[in-house]
Amino acid sequence: MLRVRYVRDINKEIGGIRELDKELFGFVVVGIKKKHWWVVKDNGFLAAYAALSINEEYGYAFLARVGVHQNYRGRGLQKRFIKAREKFALDQGINRVITYTAPHNVSSNNSLITSGYKTYNPGVEYVGEGWIYWIKPLG
Ligand SMILES: CC(C)(COP(=O)(O)OP(=O)(O)OC[C@H]1O[C@@H](n2cnc3c(N)ncnc32)[C@H](O)[C@@H]1OP(=O)(O)O)[C@@H](O)C(=O)NCCC(=O)NCCS
Repeated sequence: MLRVRYVRDINKEIGGIRELDKELFGFVVVGIKKKHWWVVKDNGFLAAYAALSINEEYGYAFLARVGVHQNYRGRGLQKRFIKAREKFALDQGINRVITYTAPHNVSSNNSLITSGYKTYNPGVEYVGEGWIYWIKPLG
């Protein structure tokens, strides 16, 4: 069984994350420092990652990037990453999680719906128009 693991030292995993990012998005991840990270490794190979940022001032957590290598898709990893990040946020005293997706991202949208997220109007469309904004209260 593949294990979703919290990353204590991002410097040890960033090489693998960058490789996967290049493959999935064509460019490498930016802004690693202010985030928390989770990875799934299979015999040393970085198969998947997810990130979370926490805004203490406004009391919310933001589901940031997630990437699952082609060969590891459809096994529920994205949903397990969502659960791990929610638990982490709750442990930090955060009771609201937000994120956004592209309308065509069927897997992500399904994962969020079945994980209890609802679409909402954020007031300010913080990444612009054409995205779906999601929210879930925790606890
Ligand atoms: C999006 C992505 C992370 C999904 O990862 P995954 O681990 O394969 O996702 P899961 O196995 O948890 O499946 C997610 C859900 O989508 C559903 N799904 C997957 N493909 C689907 C399809 N073509 N049509 C309908 N539903 C689909 C799954 O059934 C599952 O829902 P369920 O658990 O209710 O059955 C992965 O495809 C990926 O890395 N894509 C490229 C990067 C990306 O788009 N990242 C997100 C934006 S930052």
